[in-house]
Amino acid sequence: MAQINPSILSADFARLAEEAEAVRGADWLHVDVMDNHFVPNLTLGIPVVESLARATATPLDCHLMIEQPDRWAPQYVEAGAGSVTFHAEAAAAPVRLAREIRAKGARASMALRPATPIEQYEDLLPELDMILIMTVEPGFGGQAFLDIMLPKIRRTRELISKHGLDLWLQVDGGVSADTIERCAEAGADVFVAGSAVYGAADPAEAVRSLRARAEAATTAAPWACAH
Ligand code: DX5
Ligand code: ZN
Repeated sequence: MAQINPSILSADFARLAEEAEAVRGADWLHVDVMDNHFVPNLTLGIPVVESLARATATPLDCHLMIEQPDRWAPQYVEAGAGSVTFHAEAAAAPVRLAREIRAKGARASMALRPATPIEQYEDLLPELDMILIMTVEPGFGGQAFLDIMLPKIRRTRELISKHGLDLWLQVDGGVSADTIERCAEAGADVFVAGSAVYGAADPAEAVRSLRARAEAATTAAPWACAH
């Protein structure tokens, strides 16, 4: 099953509870946390995640684009996140951090910027519930999808299959009706979409139609039935 996670970065921040409601039927809500250090943009933090977790039944997928995730990520689990993604480039001790996130009861996920190779993390994959391959440079919504990331998505899917892991493969950045099929064919099964969902006249319908496209592109793929 393809999962679609609308990114609230493209939503109206003054109406987050209603914006969460507008994408009812989405698998997760993707919450982009930016600290103006790891990326040149600033969004929201723990108090907003706490309030949003109380305001919606949709589980929160927190993508931490921050320095020092070792210090902050566990607090996002306590704030109510169901999945917490830290960046490999920022984590001092990714194995310890992933274990801490899991121990606190959330799914542990690690993200790679476009220039970060997957190969060096092969042995670490069993520690994770999800790997996020960025398909834009993190920091802003509405950027163009980087086609040059497709081989990395493919290689990541091969590593997951090689080790027989139950690991979700998420893509984030420029995912739209035009690009989701390419991502799905390459091996992604969790799709973040910001502008493609919240920029649509009917966001809930955009979620359904993105999911249908992704599923149609992977009906024959062995990983597509895993969850
Ligand atoms: C970018 C964020 C994304 C962003 C995606 O750094 O991590 O989640 O919201 O937005 P779109 O789908 O518009 O590229
Ligand atoms: Zn994101």
